[in-house]
Amino acid sequence: MGDVQIAEAYDGATVAQASNLLRLAGFARAADELAADGINPEFELLLIASDDELAPVGMVWGKQPSRVLDDDAVWRTSALLSYVAVHPARRRLGIGSALVEAFCDRSRDGRADVVVLHFGMVGPERAAELTRFYLANGFVAGDYGLRRELVH
Ligand SMILES: CC(C)(COP(=O)(O)OP(=O)(O)OC[C@H]1O[C@@H](n2cnc3c(N)ncnc32)[C@H](O)[C@@H]1OP(=O)(O)O)[C@@H](O)C(=O)NCCC(=O)NCCS
Repeated sequence: MGDVQIAEAYDGATVAQASNLLRLAGFARAADELAADGINPEFELLLIASDDELAPVGMVWGKQPSRVLDDDAVWRTSALLSYVAVHPARRRLGIGSALVEAFCDRSRDGRADVVVLHFGMVGPERAAELTRFYLANGFVAGDYGLRRELVH
């Protein structure tokens, strides 16, 4: 991975670029939703990865930490990682992992003790690829998706 910067983004131009990355990654409905509604920083977190040549090169979008009942009916402070997308020309360089790490760091700063995620209806082949990606990034399989415990 070259020199990649990761930063929070809320301005319209950057949100539009993040929406394009989602579309390139095959998440057309999420791309439309992000373009139409933008980001509400009170409830959501959007991080953008940029490099010198191609800005942006990746994005992660999710929900800020909130109190929820987990799979074992225990109250946790949980952040939801909704989407990660890396530009097709920059995959397998560690950018997706860096974005997931940055999302977990920000969630920990927001007092989360766990980050959870669900794939939705992506099909078995893509689910297998994504599982490998998230297992490589410290997530474990739970009953309803994947989760990563955050150490404070
Ligand atoms: C999934 C995605 C975000 C991964 O980003 P990335 O920058 O390419 O991932 P990284 O380089 O950090 O990969 C880290 C490790 O995860 C695993 N991994 C990543 N992509 C993988 C794939 N397509 N198949 C299998 N394992 C994969 C590998 O173990 C990889 O390490 P390696 O390259 O040394 O083998 C990117 O491929 C993408 O945008 N895909 C389309 C959108 C998508 O499916 N997003 C996730 C749903 S929310």
